[in-house]
Amino acid sequence: MVESNPQNWRAVDAFLSDTLVGHDPALEATLQSQQEAHLSPIEVAPVSGKLLSLLVRISGARRVLEIGTLAGYSTTWLARAVGEGGRVLTVEAEPDNAALARRNLDAAGVGERVEIRVGRAAEVLPALDGTEPFDLVFIDADKESNTIYLDWAARLGRAGTVIVLDNIGREGEIVNDDSTESNVIGTRDALRMLGEDSRFDATALQTVGLKGWDGVALAVVV
Ligand code: DHB
Ligand code: MG
Repeated sequence: MVESNPQNWRAVDAFLSDTLVGHDPALEATLQSQQEAHLSPIEVAPVSGKLLSLLVRISGARRVLEIGTLAGYSTTWLARAVGEGGRVLTVEAEPDNAALARRNLDAAGVGERVEIRVGRAAEVLPALDGTEPFDLVFIDADKESNTIYLDWAARLGRAGTVIVLDNIGREGEIVNDDSTESNVIGTRDALRMLGEDSRFDATALQTVGLKGWDGVALAVVV
């Protein structure tokens, strides 16, 4: 019997990545650069990057908004998936991360499809109001602002826009009513918003694997 424990979750994740995602020099170079820059390894797992790309392709999204670029790992997945003529606008608060992501996206051969806006998303997003709606929005930034980002995702989207919200499990902390951690409170608030706000129809899945015990919420703008 294989026990359910973090080490075995990682082993299963490695098997799934090897079997379904495979070796990817551009993505691996991005992760290497992220590590060399001493950034936390908080990018999505390979299987989740592939999920993002499949969601883009299944929904036919051509205009994607990403909130939280880091070194451009998920951005690369999204940019590949939108195809030629597709566009990704990604928002990153840290100028050094944005510069690193720019190098990584160019090296991956998808730089021309990606615009990076540097600044806090809560300040950058209002400037996008009135532009062509986004088809898919991936929210993966500071969890404290999740409800602000969901609100903007709805405003900048249209009926049918897909929303993906990362990190909804937080090692189970989302059921800890006494948590005083702002990222947990922000995540719980976002999940309640997805349940209560009539602009969204949503679900969420827990995940285990390379990134521990966490999860992802999926929504459509009604
Ligand atoms: C954290 C943020 C993330 O986006 C993630 O995927 C994992 C962890 C964090 O801030 O702790
Ligand atoms: Mg994340």
